[in-house]
Amino acid sequence: MSARCIRTPGTHSSTISSVTNLTTETQVAPTRPQQTGAEVFAPVLPVDLRVTRLAKSFAGTLIFKNVSFGLSRGEAVAIVGANGTGKSTLLRCLMGLIPADAGAIDVLGTDVRGAKSSDLRAMRAQMGLVSQKHNLVPRLSVLSNVVQGLLGQSPGIRHWSQSFAPAASRAEAMAALTKVGLAHLASRRADRLSGGQSQRVAIARALVGQPKILIADEPTASLDPAAGEDVMDLFFDLARQEGVTVIFISHNIDHALRYGDRVLGLADGGMPLDARAKNLSAQDLRGLYD
Ligand SMILES: Nc1ncnc2c1ncn2[C@@H]1O[C@H](COP(=O)(O)OP(=O)(O)OP(=O)(O)O)[C@@H](O)[C@H]1O
Ligand SMILES: [Mg+2]
Repeated sequence: MSARCIRTPGTHSSTISSVTNLTTETQVAPTRPQQTGAEVFAPVLPVDLRVTRLAKSFAGTLIFKNVSFGLSRGEAVAIVGANGTGKSTLLRCLMGLIPADAGAIDVLGTDVRGAKSSDLRAMRAQMGLVSQKHNLVPRLSVLSNVVQGLLGQSPGIRHWSQSFAPAASRAEAMAALTKVGLAHLASRRADRLSGGQSQRVAIARALVGQPKILIADEPTASLDPAAGEDVMDLFFDLARQEGVTVIFISHNIDHALRYGDRVLGLADGGMPLDARAKNLSAQDLRGLYD
């Protein structure tokens, strides 16, 4: 997935890598079209997410500070870093699930740190989340689990189960299941699926509300390598088809380089790496784990 961003001086929030010593290419789409002498207007993609000088501590222990980056619509960014460097914490801050200590977060036009809870809910309804554990409701059917992906947009009992759901919601959930190749398992109980199937259902649940941003926190960590590859391929095929912006955490260096347009690396209480995947090698990323 490549975001056709336009580089404009002064619009970047680059962090020079002390880990990899790479030239970084952080780029944020400008808010106005770039004008050439020939009056040609290049396509400009909206900026879906912008984080500025973010800091987070837990009980006085610094997790990270001075974290800044932006994401254009349709861009895919991989977040890498050793255990405990704050990757999941960063995602939780972005979604407004936990408070940050300092800095600014703008997601889809919402000022996350200053927003009311109703505005945060509306923002989250435009985001899909796939976690390491699929977090399906075990006793419910596959279809009901996917219907629940609409709860962010339509809270209430009608989206607890497919049997209460409006026909349109059931149809959307079936369409999402078809996209992940599991329509034939719609009526199966979620606890009777394999790990790979469960993760596909979790992807369908994340996609059913047609999110603008998809977030995945180690989506393949509980899968064997072959199932993990399948899930990553599916996840990114669908994200590209839908033109969705993606943030994914991975400990798999190959996945980070293959599926990310950009790679952000957390280490030493900061984000020393922000570079285009095509300019990085596996060796560069291993430096983050030293
Ligand atoms: N609610 C919390 N209260 C206190 N400390 C926390 C809390 N959540 C996370 N931490 C700590 O913050 C640090 C960062 O945790 P986080 O889960 O973000 O790391 P991570 O980079 O996602 O790690 P992993 O690769 O293992 O998933 C860890 O030291 C963790 O123990
Ligand atoms: Mg984590």
